[in-house]
Amino acid sequence: MTSPASFHLGRYPAGAAAFPHRGLMGIAGLARHEILFLLDEAEQWVELNRQPQKRDDRLAGLTIINAFFENSTRTRLSFEIAGKRLGADVVNMNAAQSSVKKGETLIDTAVTLNAMRADAIVIRHASSGAVALIAGKVDCPVLNAGDGSHEHPTQALLDALTLRQAFRERSGGEIAGLRITICGDIMHSRVARSNMLCLTALGAEVRVCAPPALMPEGIEAMGVAPFHDFNAALEGADVVMMLRLQQERMQGQFVPSPREYRHLYGLTLDRLAKAKPEALVMHPGPMNRGIEIDSNVADLAGRSLITRQVEMGVAIRMACLDVLTRSARGAEGWA
Ligand code: NCD
Repeated sequence: MTSPASFHLGRYPAGAAAFPHRGLMGIAGLARHEILFLLDEAEQWVELNRQPQKRDDRLAGLTIINAFFENSTRTRLSFEIAGKRLGADVVNMNAAQSSVKKGETLIDTAVTLNAMRADAIVIRHASSGAVALIAGKVDCPVLNAGDGSHEHPTQALLDALTLRQAFRERSGGEIAGLRITICGDIMHSRVARSNMLCLTALGAEVRVCAPPALMPEGIEAMGVAPFHDFNAALEGADVVMMLRLQQERMQGQFVPSPREYRHLYGLTLDRLAKAKPEALVMHPGPMNRGIEIDSNVADLAGRSLITRQVEMGVAIRMACLDVLTRSARGAEGWA
């Protein structure tokens, strides 16, 4: 297998300096070359995951705890599969059945997980900042699998990897210069936030589109262009990324009705035609078909990247777990 570094020689510093972070809290704070390093590392796992034997035992003997305090299908399974494919022992803590329900504080839970000597902890929590709080209390790398409406870094990384693959033939895999329209609940979406940070860092032109009530004020400061008119936002778009209304994070009514929302902000076939002729469609899931995206768009062969995103998720999480545990493993070439 080709060493991933040889794909892009000279793009990042050698050894541990390529990714000098203890954990992965968010895309904020990552340099462009560090994002590229993780994407490059993930390429080898894309290959492995397509083989009948999907096993590399480099994390054998390590224990990874998945602590999900909020619902998840894709992200939790994806992290579990990633850890297992690398040979680690993966343990899932289901918050609904844990002592959290008995009133244990987050810090006490963190101290407990730490005492079990996990080698990496993957956390999802409904409160923004909760993952960083835990990271400050444990000795091992912590990976943010989504904290409130703050960040979801592995989702943004897997989206970037998906785009790089999809545009490999068209633009050599360059994300720089692509016009990407993200539409939905920009206000409450951690996926939107991490993607804005990641895609702008990689040089894309990012447009965000939402009803006024779901668009954070001053969003231009993130280097993106805000739109309330979806048709206008789609003009010339290479990629359309649709997001779910995050009802669980809304206090009160933010949209008049699902029907009205679909009418203005739903991705229908007709509306997709306003983007570039070959424009690609993304969605992190879970989808609300018939609201933010129609089924005939979500399942549009050759244009929808939605299942490809799920595939790339496993590879990205393998890369993150491998890279972040390297110093603890004393991995070769890694200080
Ligand atoms: C997203 C999340 O949990 O933030 N889902 C995911 O991880 N694939 C998006 C969402 O819940 O809408």
